[in-house]
Order: sequence, then C-alpha cells, then structure tokens
Amino acid sequence: MSRDELRELQLQRLQWTVRHVYENVPLYREKFDAAGVAPDDIRTLEDVRLLPFTTKADLRDTYPFGMFAVPMDRVRRIHASSGTTGRPTVVGYTEGDLQRWAQLVARSLRAAGVRPGMKVHNAYGYGLFTGGLGLHDGAALLGATVIPISGGQTARQVQLIQDFEPEVITCTPSYLLTIADAMEAAGIDPASTSLRIGVLGAEPWTNELRGEIERRLGIDAVDIYGLSEVMGPGVANECVETKDGPHVWEDHFLPEVIDPETGEPVADGEPGELVFTSLTKEAFPVIRYRTRDLTRLLPGTARPGMRRIQKITGRDDDMIILRGVNLFPTQIEEVVLGIEALTPHFVIELRKRGRLDTMTVRIERDPALSVEVCQTATEVLQRRIKGFLGATVAVQLEEPGALPRSEGKYKRVYDLR
Ligand code: DLL
Repeated sequence: MSRDELRELQLQRLQWTVRHVYENVPLYREKFDAAGVAPDDIRTLEDVRLLPFTTKADLRDTYPFGMFAVPMDRVRRIHASSGTTGRPTVVGYTEGDLQRWAQLVARSLRAAGVRPGMKVHNAYGYGLFTGGLGLHDGAALLGATVIPISGGQTARQVQLIQDFEPEVITCTPSYLLTIADAMEAAGIDPASTSLRIGVLGAEPWTNELRGEIERRLGIDAVDIYGLSEVMGPGVANECVETKDGPHVWEDHFLPEVIDPETGEPVADGEPGELVFTSLTKEAFPVIRYRTRDLTRLLPGTARPGMRRIQKITGRDDDMIILRGVNLFPTQIEEVVLGIEALTPHFVIELRKRGRLDTMTVRIERDPALSVEVCQTATEVLQRRIKGFLGATVAVQLEEPGALPRSEGKYKRVYDLR
C-alpha cells in the first residue's frame, strides 16, 4: 500500500472510530462536547489534533467497563494490567478485535523472522496480562507450533527447550537472561540450543542488552512493543533485517508524538511522548491515548510503508531525578554493558541521607572473574556514570545470585526514600 493509500484508509477508519466512541461511550461524548468537537469535524487525518487526550486516569475513573463501546454480550475476552498503584486497567475485545489482534501478532512474528512450522516457546505470562495469550493466538494464526509454557519455573523452561527444540522464544528480555543463567548453571551452553530468534518486549531494553543476548544465546533478538490499553503485544514490531526500532502497524493505529509538557505534536524525528488512536477496535477503542512512553517517529526502512518508533528507552514515570540530574534506568544499563567485566544483573536503590537523595547501583559480580577484577570494573562504572550521565552514584558489588531474578517485567528501581 502506498503512503497515500494508507492515509486514505486511516482517515476512513479514524472517522468510523470517532463516531463509534461518540455514540457509545459517555465519557468520550462528554469530553468531545466539552472540547467543542463533533465526529463531522474530522475531515483530514490532522484533525485528530482537535480531539482531547485520553489518559490512564480516565480508565481508572470508569473502572471496570465504563469505556467499553459495545454491549457486554459482544465482549469475548477481558484483559487487565496490574499497574503499580491502585486499580488495574481493564480492556475488552470483541470476536473481531481478537481476530485482528492475532493477525497483527502474526504479522509482527513474521517481521521478526518467524515462519510457519517453527516451534514457539512462549514464556510470556498467561492470564490477565496480554503477553501470553496475545503471542499465543498470533503464533497459532501464523502456522507455528505454540508451546504455552507461560512465565516462571525456570528449570523446567530449560528442560523443555532442550527436549522440544523450539526455534523461537518469546518472553521479556530480562527473563531471557534468567533462562540463560539457568542454562549455564545446568552446564548447558546457551548458544548451543535450537533457539534462533527471540521476540522480546514488554519492558524497556537497550541495544547493548540486545548485543549481550545475541552473543550469549546465538539468536536474533527482535523488539516487540505494545500496551494493553491499545491492544497488547503487536502494536509495533521490529524487522529482523534491520533491527532499528519497531515499525508501527499504522493501518490499525494512528501514532503521534507530543511534547509531554504542552501536549503539542512534535515533528517526525523529534523526541516526545507516544500517543495512539486506535483505528479498528470495536470493544475498547482509544482516542489519543497518552502512553507515557518516550520515543520519536522515524521513516520506515525494512517495511517502507509504515513508520517506525525509536526503540523505547523509558517511560516518563521511570525517570529518576537525582539532585537535579535526570536519568533513566536504561542509561545505566547502557553504561554497565559497555564494561566487559560487569554482568547485566543490577538494581538501583534510591535513598534519602539527610536532605540529599542518593543512588546505589548494586551489581552482581561475574563468577568467572576474580573479585579484584570485578571491583576495579565497579570503579570504572562509577566514573563513567559520572562522566556520561553527570550523576554521582555509589556502586556495590554483590555475590552471584544475590539479586532477585526476573520472571517477567523486571523491577529494576527500588525507591526507598
Ligand atoms: O507489556 C504488552 C506486551 C506484551 C508487549 C508482550 C510486548 C510483549 P502492558 O503490561 O500494558 O502491556 O505494558 C505496556 O510496557 O507502555 C511500555 O512502557 C512497556 N513496553 C512494552 N513493550 C515494550 C518494548 C505489555 N518493546 C507498557 N520496549 C508500555 C519498551 C515496552 N517498553
């Protein structure tokens, strides 16, 4: 599809979506009325900017089903994301929504290099989280063989990878590190297994971690992006040919990047907060949903018809403000993985000493190296964090296995202030 044809399709679908929510979701009708905008005002794609934003607070206020746009008897499935505080956010799918979701996950997996006949070891959590069932249905539709192991029970994961010989693993990048460590602990070289492709997402991860994972496991590590409110996994996916940030499936989702302070859209290529309007969702359409994920919109490459997002390195609520310096956990990950003698196993602790905020990076030492070598590496880490990021931090070396291991989305930051 040419860019012009795509834009024409997007406009038709946008007009349908706006009318659908105006007629069926009281909250949207109230917000549109308050902003003085009606469905007939949407004449071009740019008119999306006339519409008010939707935020997580809107979902909480209408908990559980207040933003569903179809009667409950048309809802075939419900998912929810736990969130860090308060009520979960709840989303619903019609039969058609589930079919389109599976198609987009199938498309995502194909872009990642997965082909019919491959076996997919799906270690995303099954249940209310969208990761497990989302990947499951997409892999099945593509014609792969799904191994629905879900997250956790890591020793068993290692055993089944040995026995069933899957080509593909789907899980969070941090959980794949846990699995790789468990392989090594069992005397198995992680690079010696049948695995060829990892479709990894649900949390921020850096290109440095991609390099580490690809080297250790001998696979292509490809980024999958999505969020429950917009659908689940498969809103955007990297292409294995280029691995240069996820392509957004723009025939189903209209992306914008805005300045988070002013709410004004920024030009393509400029950094800001990612905002999505769904174009084909029936049960739970979203209008200008503020993801809080920070990225930029870039031209398509391996699939030139669709724009990409730069690999997401953080959410605005992940940002650590340390004595006036702003930093993201992924920036620490980048520096850590740039130092050969350090492991990727670290957590960040924030404390208050008197009136000062302090930050400690606790990092496990590499069991294959001497304590002295690791100690020296932590001093290098401290200097580089100061030099590259401008933050003074303490670094504490831990014994191998001392820190919690990931079984899904990894909790990297402990705010003890
Ligand atoms: O994490 C959906 C998903 C499942 C995506 C499996 C990929 C694979 P939520 O639990 O609603 O949904 O969390 C969504 O996770 O707003 C981002 O902050 C973060 N996130 C998801 N994918 C990525 C990624 C799923 N590839 C939130 N890179 C999003 C960085 C990601 N962050």
